Amino acid sequence: MSNPPRLPAVETFIADMRAMFATTPDLNARWEKARGLLGVMLRDPEVKKHADTWPDSPAKLGLEGKHGNLLLYEDPDWGFCVNALIKKPTAKTTIHDHGVSWTLYGVIEGGEDVLRFERTDGGKPGDLPKSAVVRDTDTVKVGPGYIDLIKPWEIHAEYNGDHRTAAVIIRSQRCGTYVQNIFYAKDNSVEQYWGPQQIPFHFGWPARAAA
Ligand SMILES: [Fe+2]
Repeated sequence: MSNPPRLPAVETFIADMRAMFATTPDLNARWEKARGLLGVMLRDPEVKKHADTWPDSPAKLGLEGKHGNLLLYEDPDWGFCVNALIKKPTAKTTIHDHGVSWTLYGVIEGGEDVLRFERTDGGKPGDLPKSAVVRDTDTVKVGPGYIDLIKPWEIHAEYNGDHRTAAVIIRSQRCGTYVQNIFYAKDNSVEQYWGPQQIPFHFGWPARAAA
């Protein structure tokens, strides 16, 4: 059974992304433009209404550590994906990077602290180490409408406030197609994994697990 159409604002976003990708080969420019397109989609009232339906259980969404993402769209030609993430109150992600992928993280409801980290052991972006030393460099308080651009190998974490936080994530490629690092500050160990579980979900009405 195929799904009914996606929300008009989502179809517009996808069409605009595809056209822009075709004309913007420079990756920094491409993802800055994508940030603007995501901002337009996130301001759409129907997209906000849809976010109210996103489940935070039993799909492992919003759990600390290795959480799951709703997979709302994967582009058949360019590979970019639209994910959604729900964080339960006070949930914390691990300290991690997104490997080779580019990521836009747009808060639609709630708010949280986004922390950035750097390695102090001389390690380089692109390493897949067994141990590493990291320290936090910046914390940004983010709320609805804020869109963070996370470049390949940037180390970060998100600490939710005392409320539900919903976000749309645009990734340059689907989780599971690239390896990423998790940094454990307690013993400086590093683990490699293949990213959040992907849970197909329809970005239209009725909002439900995708057929
Ligand atoms: Fe992340």
